Amino acid sequence: MKNFEGKVVVITGGATGIGKALVDKFGAAGAKVVIAARREERLRDAVQDLTAKGIEARYKTCDVSNFDDVKALADFAWDEFGQVDVLVNNAGITGAPVAVVDATPEAYRNVFDVNIFGMLNGIWAFGNRMIAQGTPAMILSVSSETGLYVPGPMMGGYTASKHAGRAINEALRLEVPAQVEIGVIFPGMVQSELGGSTAMTQIGMPTEEFVNVIWPQIENGEFYIVSHPWAKDYTGKNAAELAQAFDRYAPHFEGDQKYDSKWIAKQTIG
Ligand SMILES: NC(=O)c1ccc[n+]([C@@H]2O[C@H](COP(=O)([O-])OP(=O)(O)OC[C@H]3O[C@@H](n4cnc5c(N)ncnc54)[C@H](O)[C@@H]3O)[C@@H](O)[C@H]2O)c1
Repeated sequence: MKNFEGKVVVITGGATGIGKALVDKFGAAGAKVVIAARREERLRDAVQDLTAKGIEARYKTCDVSNFDDVKALADFAWDEFGQVDVLVNNAGITGAPVAVVDATPEAYRNVFDVNIFGMLNGIWAFGNRMIAQGTPAMILSVSSETGLYVPGPMMGGYTASKHAGRAINEALRLEVPAQVEIGVIFPGMVQSELGGSTAMTQIGMPTEEFVNVIWPQIENGEFYIVSHPWAKDYTGKNAAELAQAFDRYAPHFEGDQKYDSKWIAKQTIG
């Protein structure tokens, strides 16, 4: 989607960090925006700032882990503007750093509820309505470079949730009609309020620089939307280790096609 003039963009977690920087960019490109998150005062401040910049903006309080809230957000956006052209599933949390063996089910579920089900709730509440509009549409989801590789210990739940976000969108893009573009954003460290960490707010890529890197990819309808060059090296290292395991223990052999899952699916499902 090259031209966002007059388009309607809904962004969850749009009052702070990456979400707010994206809202600014979509707004500057002529879009009308709806931002949604849990804290009303932050939403109100953000809409005030957007309005001062000449951007038509609305807000709706919403907990993305609650499907009824997200359905109400969709109703709100369609009531306000009559259409939704772009959905950005951006809201996310890290959860506290903890080793996998020490994590509680509640802590992991909390991260999965926001990062996985929050994103799915967006896709479920908006997806079919956007398809039914019959006009060009876009669903973006903010994963993380931790959705491409595992950066280190203590972040198993967050990392799993971001891998899940990527996997779900890999499936989604095979299923939607051509009119709907699907993209996944894989940020590395970006200055924001994520995790409430002061260190995080001081280091990492400034949000505006980050958005300038990903913007042409959004315009070009890319699926993998990337920003931090070292993520390529770490992802490549992972892929090389995996390829080595296959070369050593499960290399191709004469007639191995009968075990190719895609070939099997084609024979059985068509
Ligand atoms: N900042 C980074 O370094 C970084 C790196 C990789 C991925 N990300 C991802 O980027 C996205 C945006 O995060 P950010 O870095 O801008 O941090 P942020 O904390 O500034 O923004 C996250 C937003 O999501 C909102 N939110 C959290 N839980 C919610 C819920 N249940 N319902 C509604 N809103 C909720 C928060 O209020 C906040 O506005 C997240 O998905 C995050 O995982 C960030």
